[in-house]
Amino acid sequence: MVEPLRVCPSDVLEERGLGVQWELRYCGMEERAFALRIDGQVYAYLNRCAHVPTELDWQPNEFLDTEKRYILCAVHGAVYSPKTGACVMGRCGRAGLIPVRVAEFDGFVHWYPSDTLQPPLEPAAPAPGEPTAPAP
Ligand code: FES
Repeated sequence: MVEPLRVCPSDVLEERGLGVQWELRYCGMEERAFALRIDGQVYAYLNRCAHVPTELDWQPNEFLDTEKRYILCAVHGAVYSPKTGACVMGRCGRAGLIPVRVAEFDGFVHWYPSDTLQPPLEPAAPAPGEPTAPAP
């Protein structure tokens, strides 16, 4: 059974507001995902355009267009459905966004790892005898 992992408190995600991002690995690569609330439901995708593998947000955590209807790629303006991740217009092709399974319970948004989407690796612990980082 796949254990869900916390993303953020549910009330952080406002209706068609800013997204919340978190780090994960996609096929072994360090990437970020984002979650948005649309019509009361939470949807999440890898923060990666289907045209060129670059992040989508045009300002930090700003994923929606000015009318708050579609997810917009900041680089070449590809437009995606926020509920399906499908390409609506532009250079996003048939693939669309890569969905991340999410659920809300206990007052938090959670995501579910999969074969291709995994939690980030923990920072490597210092080897025995190796100096540790100084305290701030
Ligand atoms: S990188 Fe997103 S449309 Fe080109």
